[in-house]
Amino acid sequence: MNDQLWFRPDGQPGPELRECLTAAAAAPSIHNTQPWLFRPRADTVDVVADWTRRLDVLDPDGRELYVSVGAAVFNLGVAISAHGRRADILVLPDADRPEVAARIVLGRARRPTSAATALAAAIPRRHTNRRPFRDREVPAAVLADLTVAGDRHRTTVIVADTTLRSAVLALARTAENVQRTDPAYRAELAAWTTPGGVGRRDGVPRDAFGPHDEHKAIPLRDFGLGNGAPIATAHFERDPAVLLLFTGGDTPADWVRAGMALERVLLTATVRGLAATPLSQVVEVPRLRSLLAGGLEGRVLQNVLRVGYPATPMRPTPRRPIEETLRP
Ligand SMILES: Cc1cc2nc3c(=O)[nH]c(=O)nc-3n(C[C@H](O)[C@H](O)[C@H](O)COP(=O)(O)O)c2cc1C
Repeated sequence: MNDQLWFRPDGQPGPELRECLTAAAAAPSIHNTQPWLFRPRADTVDVVADWTRRLDVLDPDGRELYVSVGAAVFNLGVAISAHGRRADILVLPDADRPEVAARIVLGRARRPTSAATALAAAIPRRHTNRRPFRDREVPAAVLADLTVAGDRHRTTVIVADTTLRSAVLALARTAENVQRTDPAYRAELAAWTTPGGVGRRDGVPRDAFGPHDEHKAIPLRDFGLGNGAPIATAHFERDPAVLLLFTGGDTPADWVRAGMALERVLLTATVRGLAATPLSQVVEVPRLRSLLAGGLEGRVLQNVLRVGYPATPMRPTPRRPIEETLRP
């Protein structure tokens, strides 16, 4: 193993680590805020939550910020494994520095497993898809694979049955309606969806917005709302598969782990030819979020995913250059 391929003597990342950091930054994040910073040091990388990129209105506690950082942590770990080194992940390693979301300790050279190779290959192919999916049922065995993928990192994933799905979608519609009438929410959305943001490397670009469901059954977040941009309607799948991610607690460590599990589910879905859309609105309105936790042994809902076979592919959304996210 040539160490300079990973860490240069001046502490800067070498080419192997640079590729892994690019994979980390390809992670999904709330409104594509990319709220992470990387601090490489001899054989470790700290992934730091960038509090300046928190969404004040949508995410006052920074919960979705930490979930997003957790997704980047997962990608970084998988990429390092796929590049042939062991990667141990410590979540919230310093009790007095909660901004350090995770520390990744690089270990000895190790032949990558086929699972790590497949997940790493899916990283650049995973995109949030807000368009209609095909009217093709996702087989139960495939959904079971997704729940197994997510049942890690102290997170539990369940597939909503028909009754739970109608309840979740109804609550998500309510949440979307609550949010869209809030001028502060709209202003924040506008700030992260600037149309034609030439040269902009964060935020949700217009070609990533999806249409409205003509039957109003699937309440995708309305990204056109921020700038008053009208969005077309379209026929969406009648029978969406809906997954729910729960954790045992609701601390920053739980949020980071939920983000790791979320990304594992999303990459596994990508490997299986599926696409997904988070439907987070219901988790962002506290009164609605607690309704869905009732009866689930005190577990806390962290995210809702719509999953299906994509009818149209999505393009990658922009990312900031790695240099902008490196800290000494
Ligand atoms: C914690 C979290 C919550 C998200 N919530 C939503 C959501 O409610 N609606 C949505 O359409 N996308 C949601 N997304 C997806 C992001 O908007 C998306 O990851 C980002 O714009 C980057 O695009 P990409 O996923 O295609 O790389 C969420 C992502 C994360 C990590």
